[in-house]
Amino acid sequence: MKEKRLGFATRMGAIAATVGSAVGLGNIWRFPYQAGENGGGAYILVYLICVVLLGIPIMMSEFIIGSSTHKSMKGAVQQLTPGSPFKIFAYVGVLGALLICGYYCVVCGWVIEYLWASASGTLLGHSPEEYDTIFKTFVSSPDRCLLWTLLFLVLNFLVLSRGIKNGIERLSNVMMPLLFLLLIVFCVNSLLLPDSDDGMDFLFNIDFYELGWKGVVDAMGQAFMSLSLGVTCLITYSSYFKEDTRLMRDAVTISALDTLVAILAGIVIFPAVFSFDMQPNAGPDLIFNTLPTIFQQMPGGIVWAVAFFVLLFFASITSTISLSEIPVTFLIDEYKMSRGKAIAITAVLMTVISVLSALSFSTLSDVKLFDKNIFDFLDYVGPNFFMLLGGLVTAIYVGWVLKKDVIHKQLTNGGKHKSRFVQPYIIFCLRYIAPVAIVIIFLYYTGVLKYLDLF
Ligand code: TRP
Repeated sequence: MKEKRLGFATRMGAIAATVGSAVGLGNIWRFPYQAGENGGGAYILVYLICVVLLGIPIMMSEFIIGSSTHKSMKGAVQQLTPGSPFKIFAYVGVLGALLICGYYCVVCGWVIEYLWASASGTLLGHSPEEYDTIFKTFVSSPDRCLLWTLLFLVLNFLVLSRGIKNGIERLSNVMMPLLFLLLIVFCVNSLLLPDSDDGMDFLFNIDFYELGWKGVVDAMGQAFMSLSLGVTCLITYSSYFKEDTRLMRDAVTISALDTLVAILAGIVIFPAVFSFDMQPNAGPDLIFNTLPTIFQQMPGGIVWAVAFFVLLFFASITSTISLSEIPVTFLIDEYKMSRGKAIAITAVLMTVISVLSALSFSTLSDVKLFDKNIFDFLDYVGPNFFMLLGGLVTAIYVGWVLKKDVIHKQLTNGGKHKSRFVQPYIIFCLRYIAPVAIVIIFLYYTGVLKYLDLF
């Protein structure tokens, strides 16, 4: 007998889980430092344009594939277009998810270390230079990095083992509202700091001179990362959506909430950075070095530090569960495995990759792939190769290959609602804008454009 495929129980739960996937280190760690490096306001403006022209259409393309079939990528493509070679990209998605999760969990391990250090009172009370040393010493100590990464993985798979409704949906229903609440408290606090206007100016003043082409390409890549696009994550989640889900409305809600969190994270960080005379362009170390320096100068610093790393923990675990669910659902759908077995296999694979990347600043620092250590390599190929390739493939598949009536049925819930403007907008973006943009990012990252002297 065919087992019934159980999905999200409520619309709110499905949205909370998908926002949970989207809101992650990408919003709170990556977006602020990228905005900081690329001049602030102009970067944010380009980012918003990317969300509208690339993000929402590609999110919709994934939703259409998943929710029309209630299957993950491979089965979905087989059902929608029998015999189509596009199904092989399901493997690209699964592999991409494993690799991305492999380095993402290491950063989540850093978050737990900083949470622990804040709570035990050892984080605060150092000079800015010392924070730099503390961070470098920590990432190059194999045992502590491994310990926290493994602990994080255990928590991650415990949630997954409880299933879509009782694990993912329940956790997201609790964590996402708390995350918003915490963020708002942080924002208010930041805005009340002396000279917070300078930070707001930096964040919202539009200065294209600082942006450059690198900033434009970074913003496009960031939209992919932040909205969880390209590695079939949203196909997987939407395969568990309820039948009557209004995809476009939910895609807009999810993208808007995700963008709001990124901007709120900027409002938390930059006014504080300027108020305490720090540099906004500290790069990836921004939250691990700059923020502790700021927290310790604030009254009740320990509480702020703990709350911040708790917030970051919530954001990250709801993202890693979505990444891990990709291989899990794939194994269940394609090999008819029990959920337990699929989780066990995924856990082993993910642990191996995470351990390798956790050790890549210490024991394995000499192992180089294309001149990068394992962590940096995964951080490079995940977003720059797997997400982009996957995004390109889903855009082409839904824009050019899939029958219009499948798309129409999904957009109108079988004719119940109108979609006069939505369908042409989605199709136009998927057919023309997304492929051109993705090819440009691709050429940029691979250095071809530089070689041709175009950027
Ligand atoms: N969107 C998450 C972030 O911003 C990361 C993430 C979760 C992701 N699931 C994904 C990225 C699937 C790409 C694909 O941190």
